[in-house]
Amino acid sequence: MNIPLQLLNGLTPSHFLAEYWQKKPLLIRQAIPNFIGLLSPNDLAGLACEENVQARIISQKKDIWQVKHGPFDDADFAKLGKKNWTLLVQSVNQHLSEAADLLAQFNFIPHARLDDLMVSYAPTGGGVGAHVDSYDVFLLQGSGKRNWKISAQTDLSLVENAPLRILKHFKPEQEWVLEAGDMLYLPPQIAHWGVSESDDCMTYSIGFRAPKTQELLHEFLNYLQDHIQEKGFYSDPNLSLQIHPAEISDDMISKVDEMLQKITWDKKHVADFLGKYLSEPKVDVVFAPNKKISKVEFNKQLATKTLWLSLKSQLLFANDNFYLNGEKLTVPGDIYKEIKYLADYNHLKTDALEANIHDACSDSLYDAYLAGYVCLKR
Ligand code: SIN
Ligand code: CO
Repeated sequence: MNIPLQLLNGLTPSHFLAEYWQKKPLLIRQAIPNFIGLLSPNDLAGLACEENVQARIISQKKDIWQVKHGPFDDADFAKLGKKNWTLLVQSVNQHLSEAADLLAQFNFIPHARLDDLMVSYAPTGGGVGAHVDSYDVFLLQGSGKRNWKISAQTDLSLVENAPLRILKHFKPEQEWVLEAGDMLYLPPQIAHWGVSESDDCMTYSIGFRAPKTQELLHEFLNYLQDHIQEKGFYSDPNLSLQIHPAEISDDMISKVDEMLQKITWDKKHVADFLGKYLSEPKVDVVFAPNKKISKVEFNKQLATKTLWLSLKSQLLFANDNFYLNGEKLTVPGDIYKEIKYLADYNHLKTDALEANIHDACSDSLYDAYLAGYVCLKR
């Protein structure tokens, strides 16, 4: 796993993590030689017309920026000019198995940190303006050319009243033109602006997620609410007479403070919370249930076919606990290794599961199959 990778300019993943990840940009010429992309501009436009696909069209006329949100139709595309606009589609990996294969090349970063693959198309002059992102990104060039300018500037003031976050004073420090297969890694907070230099410019953004501290705290407190239980009632046998009956006394405050100080948790709670929270599908994800088959038929197919995670599924584990799409998955101890393989590589040849374990495992896998979280293929 830790061998030098062309994808990382010949660096080993450990070297990349130590020197660059979350620290400094890295330009990689021919990260993926012969990469021309996974889909055509037309395919991308087709995706942008579908319900439940997050898509935006950003256009610029002089200093005026416009953002439109999908789903789009043919008329939306017909209205666009020849230059200076871009179409961006999020989570393409949930719709295209080739995109999931591309993401697998970034397996040196934990799945829990991966957000999605966003694909953009732009004719000459198209781009989203100078901005900073709060997450790491690998910008992989598909077809066409894009000029990238970047800066480590600290002035992050934004253009007022613009419909998207555009830096007011962008001062580029480095500049490159990326062609098919070239890739630029940017850590968070590096200002960047990519402008298309051809009419077939497609950029693949492998984006990572970094939950806000506030969001993690909020979500964990929510989790705790369902997982802590204390018996008893507030009591005050030593109540003394108050001058102001409306006053919440210091005595009462101290008692409740003492009660609250008793709330405790351990790393098992944190791991369980993270498993559920991080594997939770995004709000707009809709799973397509598989055709209903009997459990006997499912077991028969499980024995002969390959089990795949659905493109929209997220399977994570912490120690020997497994979490599939926000729920704990029951896995018998004798197949932990196999289900960890399924989580790491999205598929599992089921002959790896011995026949006698099928029954123990199949209840939860059968439910996951019916829900469309996993599928069976030859
Ligand atoms: C793009 O693909 O045009 C934008 C990617 C980015 O700047 O994050
Ligand atoms: Co960006």
